[in-house]
Amino acid sequence: MKILLINQAVSCFIAFLKVSLPYFKQKYNYKYLIAMKKLKHLSVVAMAGMMLVACGQNKKEEQVSSAQETETVTVADETATSQVQDTIEVELNAEDTMKFDKNEIRVHAGQQVRLTLNHVGKLPKSSMGHNFVLLSQGTDVNAFATKAVQEGKAPDFEVPESLLTEVIAHTKTIGGGESVTIEFTAPEAGTYDYICSFPGHASMMNGKLIVE
Ligand code: CU
Repeated sequence: MKILLINQAVSCFIAFLKVSLPYFKQKYNYKYLIAMKKLKHLSVVAMAGMMLVACGQNKKEEQVSSAQETETVTVADETATSQVQDTIEVELNAEDTMKFDKNEIRVHAGQQVRLTLNHVGKLPKSSMGHNFVLLSQGTDVNAFATKAVQEGKAPDFEVPESLLTEVIAHTKTIGGGESVTIEFTAPEAGTYDYICSFPGHASMMNGKLIVE
């Protein structure tokens, strides 16, 4: 805007000089003409100087506004962090068809996770038992599932004690119509596998706990 106004002012002034110079030529002597030419040069230099100053000011304004934007973003980040709840409720449903209704659960590191597993099927736990087993990072899912069957005890196939070192949290085994709730602290950021360790279920019933 400022530059536009200055440009207009410069061109107006030059146009005025062009129109008025022949008049001055006739009316005054040569010395005066030289003086006018000098004045023209001076005015162009002055205008260029003013334009540079204006540009400088624009740059400063840009810097100020970008600094303000950064500040706004920081404030938004702080708000987002403070909105992370201390406790997160997670509902996970398991069916008679050997399925979890979620294959991805997202939580934040350090958050208290209150997880409820609902067996929404009808079959008893002796034939269609379900549980939720959250495995430590780096645990081989298939190897763990195999050991859980080998070392587990019928009919419930609770997670055997010998495998608890590879487990972050787990529920007991439940049958159709039952529910169970556990609480655990979300581990450090990363991706963790969860499974139902009941015999033959892990390949169908599994998912990822993503800790942000
Ligand atoms: Cu199951």
